[in-house]
Amino acid sequence: MSVAEAVAARRSVRDLSARPVPAELFHRVATLAMEAPSSWNHQSRSMVIVTDPTVREDLIQATGGQRVAAAAPALFVFVGEFDDPKLDRSAVHDAAISRGAWTPDYSRGSARAAVRFQQDLKDRGLLREYAVKDAMIVASFAMLVAQAEGLATAPMNGWDEEQVKKAIGIDDRDDLVIALVMAVGYADQLPAHPGRLSHQHIFDSTYGRRFGVSKHIEN
Ligand SMILES: Cc1cc2nc3c(=O)[nH]c(=O)nc-3n(C[C@H](O)[C@H](O)[C@H](O)COP(=O)(O)O)c2cc1C
Repeated sequence: MSVAEAVAARRSVRDLSARPVPAELFHRVATLAMEAPSSWNHQSRSMVIVTDPTVREDLIQATGGQRVAAAAPALFVFVGEFDDPKLDRSAVHDAAISRGAWTPDYSRGSARAAVRFQQDLKDRGLLREYAVKDAMIVASFAMLVAQAEGLATAPMNGWDEEQVKKAIGIDDRDDLVIALVMAVGYADQLPAHPGRLSHQHIFDSTYGRRFGVSKHIEN
């Protein structure tokens, strides 16, 4: 399945089948989803794949007992991690240098710039918001990878953050934020596409000016 086909086929499936999914498949989806880009490549986000019956039950309660959560054989929780400027990022830099992706010079410059950038975010109280961005990109990748791997997903905003954190064992962590809970499993059938108002949301250079597809673009 191409990326375009996965994008076109994906639907939020609220009646997932109870059919078990092999753990390897969840792991494959998660590993590919983690290929998502992240700010400074700091990878300040995690996924918790919840299949344990007790944790799953607590999570279902955290969603207010939503049918979509209760039906799913697994719930993925996407966790953003506050990227505090003081955190040691040497593992990120060492990996990039050893793979030839970054030169030592680039690494040093980027490390200094990242500390300044993250300190500014911290001063402005934006670490949480930026942690959510990175986690949501992983969640978006996960939806499409799952689709391509024959699974279906249902993203959820309807949950109590404190309860979700408690369920997955991080209720004492102020540096972690829940970005999204997602039901994952097989779908017996896909719901109809509810439609998109794309023509109202794609603009040309300034917000509100309609993008015409006929013009030639150069840079
Ligand atoms: C961030 C986010 C949160 C959502 N939260 C819920 C939710 O709590 N419960 C639910 O039933 N659907 C939820 N949805 C699913 C949307 O209702 C759904 O994506 C939308 O209707 C478009 O349908 P489609 O995903 O099939 O294209 C959520 C979707 C997104 C992207």
